Amino acid sequence: MNKSSTNQRLPRAKGIDMGTYYTPKECAKKVRHLILPDMNRKIVEEFITILGMRDTFEEHQVPIPNKVVMYGPPGTGKTLTAFYIAQMLELPLILVRLDAIIHSHLGETGSNIRKIFEYAKASPCVLFLDEFDAIARTRESNDEVKEMARAVNTLLQCLDDFGDSSIFVAATNLENELDRAIWRRFDTKMIYSLPDELSRRQYIDLLINGFEGETGLTEEVCVRLAGCSFADIEQIVLKAKRKAIIESCSLKVEHIVLSYEEYCPSLN
Ligand SMILES: Nc1ncnc2c1ncn2[C@@H]1O[C@H](COP(=O)(O)OP(=O)(O)O)[C@@H](O)[C@H]1O
Ligand SMILES: [Mg+2]
Repeated sequence: MNKSSTNQRLPRAKGIDMGTYYTPKECAKKVRHLILPDMNRKIVEEFITILGMRDTFEEHQVPIPNKVVMYGPPGTGKTLTAFYIAQMLELPLILVRLDAIIHSHLGETGSNIRKIFEYAKASPCVLFLDEFDAIARTRESNDEVKEMARAVNTLLQCLDDFGDSSIFVAATNLENELDRAIWRRFDTKMIYSLPDELSRRQYIDLLINGFEGETGLTEEVCVRLAGCSFADIEQIVLKAKRKAIIESCSLKVEHIVLSYEEYCPSLN
């Protein structure tokens, strides 16, 4: 886990620590720039607005949303969005470590899930489960069928009993493998995809910002990095900047081409 931060470990349960606690300030540091397509920005903004109007919603007896699922390819901003939501709501974020939750001993996975949900219910926070498919897989598609079916049932119960003082956020790359009953429990769903040309341009501009580059660099890089995720673009541009610094010259398309070849992004 994030060694450089001052995060507190959650209380240990049966010899394992199940997640990391980030203060709203630490969340803000993680989200310097988040580029969201219009639809997702709208969804997030509305979600945050509603949570700021709790009393009004109570008056109208309209339940507030507090269960978000995000799905799409890696490196497209799902984790970043969870930190952004926590920052905007000024809530701490609890990043759950799935490898610490999933246990081969009978009943242990379910009991860990229950513990982490109890912890999150006890005081307002954003409870974030990354790679959610690892526990929420369809009940049929598991090898350790019985144990995982039990874990999914526990998860369903926990989601139903979650109340509305905290926010539950889940992310997955494998939405088709999520249990349908779990899927229905979410009131807010966001699809993430690889950046389109406009988002790529915006992001490349942000990354190059202030660094001397040859004329027409952003446009050319934008074309060359089509099909890359935000995370890939970030790594490639940083690599290219290092090359330019070593050579004491401005950033050139050639640096990007070389960095792309060296980095070999897995194109989705
Ligand atoms: N939409 C985005 N806007 C800005 N940066 C992004 C975006 N998506 C990914 N990144 C960059 O890639 C890194 C990894 O992104 P992350 O949110 O963990 O992706 P995911 O959870 O979808 O796999 C981020 O820390 C950030 O540097
Ligand atoms: Mg992620």
